[in-house]
Amino acid sequence: MLQASMNRRFAIQGCTALVTGATAGLGAEFARQLAPRARHLILVGRRKERLASLAESLRKDFSALSIESIPADLAMPEERERLASHIIRSEIPLNLLVNNAGLGDLGPFDTAEWTRLEPMLSVNVTALTHLTHLLLPMLRAHPPSAVLNVSSIAGFFPLPEMAVYAATKAYVTSFSEALRMELEPHGVVVTALCPGPVPTEFFEVASREGKTIRAMDRSHPAFASPPELVVRQALAGLERNRPGVIPNSLLAAVVRTVRLLPFPLIREAIRLGAGPKKPVEE
Ligand SMILES: NC(=O)c1ccc[n+]([C@@H]2O[C@H](COP(=O)([O-])OP(=O)(O)OC[C@H]3O[C@@H](n4cnc5c(N)ncnc54)[C@H](OP(=O)(O)O)[C@@H]3O)[C@@H](O)[C@H]2O)c1
Repeated sequence: MLQASMNRRFAIQGCTALVTGATAGLGAEFARQLAPRARHLILVGRRKERLASLAESLRKDFSALSIESIPADLAMPEERERLASHIIRSEIPLNLLVNNAGLGDLGPFDTAEWTRLEPMLSVNVTALTHLTHLLLPMLRAHPPSAVLNVSSIAGFFPLPEMAVYAATKAYVTSFSEALRMELEPHGVVVTALCPGPVPTEFFEVASREGKTIRAMDRSHPAFASPPELVVRQALAGLERNRPGVIPNSLLAAVVRTVRLLPFPLIREAIRLGAGPKKPVEE
């Protein structure tokens, strides 16, 4: 029986999903796209009112959906533990974990404030790892199940002026690949989503005081994708058991090509392209 369910592919239809960072951007879009197909949704983020109003509007549109919003600051280990214990106690058949919450900091490392870097490391790396660790027994108990880790194209290359953020996403991609291999025999699919720029609140949050950097200041507009497309492709990739999803075909082709080059050449190209970015002075 267990063997049979492990051989089936993970399907979103009827799933029980937890989405972190559901108050904005990609996370809110994950909630909207999962709602018509999932049985239970658990939405997590710090901003209570936003979580409640998203849950309310999804409840109105999808009466069969059971939906819960749980405010939590994932940078705090005790809040992660509280969240996981609540889920474990409630005995819901969790079979999809979307580790989406994340944040960035744009600018040189030497002038970065530790009060911005530390929460970034805590949310992007520690919380993603800790929540996966805490909830894995539940995911393994309900195969076929899945972990979707939201990484970034930034994880493929070291990026000056996004040094810490890019390093956190390199961690997410590497962790996802290894975990995928470990969990394959247990009926748990792991996929890393690696988007290029997406117009969400990300760049506003990542910009330093007085220096707004917009998504398009960082890359060619052709590399950007709307959140609806990013999430649609991520969910399709998960159901197709893809190890990674780059939801923009042009960007995917560029990344694949560049990764074939010797690293010293890549380093020079990054150096050339990584001159100081001109922020919009406020
Ligand atoms: N936008 C892009 O260009 C882009 C590109 C590649 C990858 N990504 C990745 O996509 C993911 C989603 O980002 P987004 O673009 O949707 O950005 P966003 O609009 O700023 O949303 C970020 C989400 O993360 C949550 N979050 C941040 N700190 C948190 C904390 N301490 N505890 C709990 N939740 C927290 C925020 O909720 P609260 O503030 O309410 O807590 C919010 O819901 C991130 O992992 C990001 O690195 C984004």
